[in-house]
This record gives sequence, structure tokens and C-alpha cells, in this order.
Amino acid sequence: MADPSDTAPHILLVDPAHFDVHYTINPWMQPQRWHAEAGALGRRARAGFDALVDTLERIGCRVSVMPGAPGLPDMVFPANAAVVLDGRALLARFRHAERQGEEAHFAELFERLRADGLLREVGRLPPGCVQEGAGDCIWDATRGQFWAGWGPRSSRIAADRLAAFFGQPVVPLELVTDRAYHLDVCFAPLCGGEVLWYPPALSMESRARVIAQVGADRLIAANEDELARFNVNAVNVGRDIVMSPCAPRLRTLLEGRGYRVHEVDVTPFMLAGGGAFCMTLRLDRQSPAAAGIAP
Ligand code: ARG
Repeated sequence: MADPSDTAPHILLVDPAHFDVHYTINPWMQPQRWHAEAGALGRRARAGFDALVDTLERIGCRVSVMPGAPGLPDMVFPANAAVVLDGRALLARFRHAERQGEEAHFAELFERLRADGLLREVGRLPPGCVQEGAGDCIWDATRGQFWAGWGPRSSRIAADRLAAFFGQPVVPLELVTDRAYHLDVCFAPLCGGEVLWYPPALSMESRARVIAQVGADRLIAANEDELARFNVNAVNVGRDIVMSPCAPRLRTLLEGRGYRVHEVDVTPFMLAGGGAFCMTLRLDRQSPAAAGIAP
């Protein structure tokens, strides 16, 4: 394992002890399949989670695992807990009743991170402003901006709130399919400046915006099979990309761009509609200005 120093990427995960699939709030969720094989899937979920932790540590990340809570199976997806930049966290507000119980737990958890000196501020959105964390608001380090998904879960107005809170540019992208209900299912800015995406998930206007800003030569389009494998929902640190078992076509494309693909079996979590990225939340992201003034 790499020796994680203070400058290592710091990633929050939530322990899967309370994970299951017993409701349906996105089209990937399969409670029947979960119930039919709950024992085996639970063991496989634990093994997949452990493999994710190991892989992240192996590529040099510092990993903090926090406990979940009974009755809140989707807490294993902390990407939805908050948006974090420059040591400041803006707590999420969930659209569906099934996940709203997570808000109090995550608020407590983030207050604890603040007390421990890992964050300096924890903010809240105004009532009624739905925003599902980093799952719908992804930092693009190359461009020094957030991309914010809206539609199925987060509200359009949340993009303005995020911009005001963080003092950073936020580019709103409209999600037009239920399958890509969060931006992170269909959109992943990579460290080398490329963006891995699934264009049909975005409105025509949003697609045009991405193409104009990123440039066709830096866009890597995933196909429907790769979307369904949750290959776009990947964790990228430097040249390493961690994801669910990767379609050979996409692996070739990514390796051709100089990335190393690491696979983890997160299949049980995909039955809840989540892949590797959803299971993580980066706590150490810095805007260029903050990075510049850091000691
Ligand atoms: N079952 C969860 C939901 O529908 C899955 C969340 C996955 N997280 C993500 N960032 N895409 O909310």
C-alpha cells in the first residue's frame, strides 16, 4: 500500500453493514433480485466494498470509512451526502422520502469531520432546494469548475446556490433520462482533461455546451452497455481509474489515453443503481485559488 501523506486524495466511504435493496427510486434498483439472493449478495457486497477500499489505498488514497445507519441502505453512496471543496461542505437535500432520513446522519458526520479539523465549514441549502451532493455536482480540476446535473433529482436552482456558496463557476447540465438520474452515472471529468460521458443522457443544449467547452478531441463517449455496467461511474485519481468490470472497448480507449483501469466487483451496489464513484466522496478537493494560497 502507498503511504498516504497529508497530500493524498482523501476519500470518504460508508460501511455497507446496513446495505440492501428494498425500495425502487431509480430504474436500476432490483429489490426482488436482492431478496431472492440476499445472503450471497450481502457477502458479495462486503467483498466488493473491501476490494474498493484496498484498490483506493493501493493507488495512494487515504480512505476514511464511516458507519451507516439501519433502515438507510443507500447511505453507502456518500457521493450524495454533500458537495465538498476547499474544506467547505454543502450538505445535500434528497428528493425522495426513502433517502431523506440520511440527511440528519450525514449532518452529524460532517459536523464531526469539522470538529476533527478535516473541514472548516458545513453549510446547508435553503428548504425546498433539492441537491444530491457530488453525485450531481462534479468538480472538474482541469477547468476549475463544477458541472451540475439537474432534472431527475437535483433542482436547476441548486446550481446557482452552489455557485454562490463555493464562489466557483457551475455549469448546469440537464439530465433527460431516468437511467442517468444523477450526473455521475453518465459524466466523469478525468485528470488529463478528458471527459468520459454518455451523451444521450443530456439534453441537446447541454450536450452542445459540453462539446463547446471540452472539445471533441477530449470527449470519450461511452455506449449504452458501458453505461449499464456503471463504467462511467468511475473514481479517477491521476492516471488510475477505479470502476466496475470494464467493457473491453472502453478499457482500450482509456488505456490508449494513458490511464490504468482497476476493476472492482460492485455488482450488488449496481442493484441499487450505484457504481464505484457513488460509493466515494472526495474530501480534499481544492479550487485553484485555494490551492495557490495553501501553505
Ligand atoms: N439508490 C440510490 C438512489 O437512487 C443510488 C444512489 C447512487 N448514487 C449516485 N451518486 N449515483 O439514490
